[in-house]
Amino acid sequence: MDWQHIPTVHAARVSLRPVTERDIDALYAVFSDPEVMRYSGSSMKDPLEAKDFLTEVLEELRRRQCIQWGIARRADDQIIGHVAIFNLDLVARKGEIGFSLGRAYWGMGYMQEALQAAIGYGFNEMGLRRIEADTDPRNLPSIRLLERLGFQKEGYLRERWLIAGESQDSLFYGLLNKEWNSSVAVYQVMPTADLPTEARSRFKLRVVGSRVCGWGRRLLGVVSA
Ligand SMILES: CC(C)(COP(=O)(O)OP(=O)(O)OC[C@H]1O[C@@H](n2cnc3c(N)ncnc32)[C@H](O)[C@@H]1OP(=O)(O)O)[C@@H](O)C(=O)NCCC(=O)NCCS
Repeated sequence: MDWQHIPTVHAARVSLRPVTERDIDALYAVFSDPEVMRYSGSSMKDPLEAKDFLTEVLEELRRRQCIQWGIARRADDQIIGHVAIFNLDLVARKGEIGFSLGRAYWGMGYMQEALQAAIGYGFNEMGLRRIEADTDPRNLPSIRLLERLGFQKEGYLRERWLIAGESQDSLFYGLLNKEWNSSVAVYQVMPTADLPTEARSRFKLRVVGSRVCGWGRRLLGVVSA
């Protein structure tokens, strides 16, 4: 694994690719929608927050804690969502998956494709043994998706998060490399490109937890219980 470069991974209709400053407006469109962020954290209020998010993503990659891609439609390279493998533990060879898609793109199977590619990359290229997912028990689209992908329900944690003033429970899922049906993951890893130069964060950051990589240090509205 090359921790200075994020590979682009092609699936059939979408690509997982590095996000850059050119994608700030598209990322902001996803992350500023309260419906999309309902179970992940406070929605963004200013496009500059999306810029700061990019900085966080690069820093977490360099610390080997998180690999994060934008999800782009292959037809026009437009960013429609994101997927991350975060909370990486390279000793235990495990990580957690987080994902969001713009509201206009739900119900088309794009995220299923994107997660198959990300999981395939995590297991086959990064050598992970286990991928975890933490979802709100009311988040039925997310639960349907995880279970379709083969994730097993492993636990229920009460009032684990405080998001926008609301206590939220966690349904915890796990998927093992040895259980994963790799034949369903049709993806192609492309040669890597240089990462953008590291930008300095303009925000004072506070360490808190989150269901989304790159979010924990940015949001004041999400606190791990
Ligand atoms: C969770 C989330 C990504 C699920 O999005 P989604 O579009 O339902 O997920 P999928 O890509 O798996 O699409 C499946 C749906 O597309 C439909 N579909 C249409 N064409 C399809 C195709 N070619 N292949 C597969 N499914 C297709 C399926 O029937 C299914 O619809 P259904 O659930 O009504 O039966 C989305 O709701 C989201 O971004 N939510 C906000 C962020 C969030 O909660 N993230 C999770 C935090 S843990």
